[in-house]
Amino acid sequence: MRIECPGCLKGINIPEERCPVGKVFTFSCPSCKHRIKLDLRTESTNIRSSLKLETGINKHQEKATQKKEYKRKESNRQNLEKKILQDVKDLPPMPQVVLKAQQLMADPDLDIKGVASLIETDQAIAIKVLKLANSAYYGFSGQVSSIQNAFVVLGYKTLVQILSIASFSTFMGKNLPGYGFESEDFRRHSLAVALSSKVIAEKIDPSLANEAHTAGLIHDIGKIILDKYIVEKIDTFKTFLENEQRTFLSAEKQVLGFDHAEIAYEICKKWNIPNAMTQAIKYHHYPSSSQGDRLPYILHLADYIAAKSGGGYDSDDLLYQLEEGTLDYLDLRYEDVRIIMSEVIEAMAQLSDES
Ligand SMILES: [Fe+2]
Ligand SMILES: [Fe+2]
Repeated sequence: MRIECPGCLKGINIPEERCPVGKVFTFSCPSCKHRIKLDLRTESTNIRSSLKLETGINKHQEKATQKKEYKRKESNRQNLEKKILQDVKDLPPMPQVVLKAQQLMADPDLDIKGVASLIETDQAIAIKVLKLANSAYYGFSGQVSSIQNAFVVLGYKTLVQILSIASFSTFMGKNLPGYGFESEDFRRHSLAVALSSKVIAEKIDPSLANEAHTAGLIHDIGKIILDKYIVEKIDTFKTFLENEQRTFLSAEKQVLGFDHAEIAYEICKKWNIPNAMTQAIKYHHYPSSSQGDRLPYILHLADYIAAKSGGGYDSDDLLYQLEEGTLDYLDLRYEDVRIIMSEVIEAMAQLSDES
C-alpha cells in the first residue's frame, strides 16, 4: 500500500504483509522523520480509505499548527517592532550644534565668526574639534588654536567633517556586547567607513564628499538600538551563525525580523537627516535595491573596504561580499580599491588617538 506523509508529502510504500490489520500503529517517515499514525482497526478492504482519512486529519492538524505558529511569530515580531521604534524615539536628538552649524555653513554669506561661536557653545564638542583639527591627518599639527582659526586653516568643508566626528563620537563610543564589540571597535569601524566614503566620493564626485563622510560615520547606528535585543536572544544568534555559516546581518533579519540598516533608517528620519543620506544608509548593504543613487554604492564599497582593511568587525569581515556590479556602477577598478584601502589604513593611523 502507498500512503503520503503529511509532514513532507512524500509517498511511502508499505508492504501489505507488514500492515498490522486491526491495530493502530505509528512509525517515522523515512524522509522527514514525521511520526505517522495509522488506524487499521477497520476491515482490511477498507485500509486504503482509513489511511486516507487518517493522513487527511494529520494534514489538517499540521496546517492548523503551522498557522498558529505563524500567528505567534508575527505577533512577537510586531511587539518587538513596537519596542524598537519606541527605543528609536527615546534616543537623544542629533547634536543641535551640528544641525545649526550645517545650516549656517550652507549660507552663501558664510558668517565664520557666528559659526565658530556656535560651536564654542558646546565645550565638549569644541575641544574634540580642536584635537582633531590638530591631528596628523589634517596636516596642521599644533597650528590650530581656535575654531575660527580652524576655518581659516582647514576650510569649511573639512571643518564640517571634523564637527561630525566630534559630535557623533558619543553615539559611536558604546560597548555593544550583543555584537561582541568594545566601544573602540564600533568607533573605529564608523570612522574607517566615514574616511573611506570620503576618499571614494572625492575620486568619483567631490561634491558628495561631505554627505558621504557623515553617512559613513553613522551608517551602522542601528546597531546601538538592536544590541540589547541581540543580548536577549544571544543563544539563538549563536546557533544560527554556527549552523548556517552566514553573516550577522542575516542573523538579525532571521532572528529579530529587522536588520540594523532598517533601524538606522528610522533613526535618520528621527534626526531629520537629509533624504539622500537616509536612503544611502538604509541600502548600504544592498545598494542595487536603492533608487540608483551613487551614495548607497559609495557607502557599500566603503564598508567593504573597512572590513577588508582591519577596520571592520571580526565576526563578519571574512563573509563580507561586495554586491555584484558595485565597482562598475562607480566606474572603479580593483586597482582603485587597493589604493583607497591603503589611504584609509594610513588615515586611520593618523586619526586613531584624536577621535
Ligand atoms: Fe552595516
Ligand atoms: Fe558597517
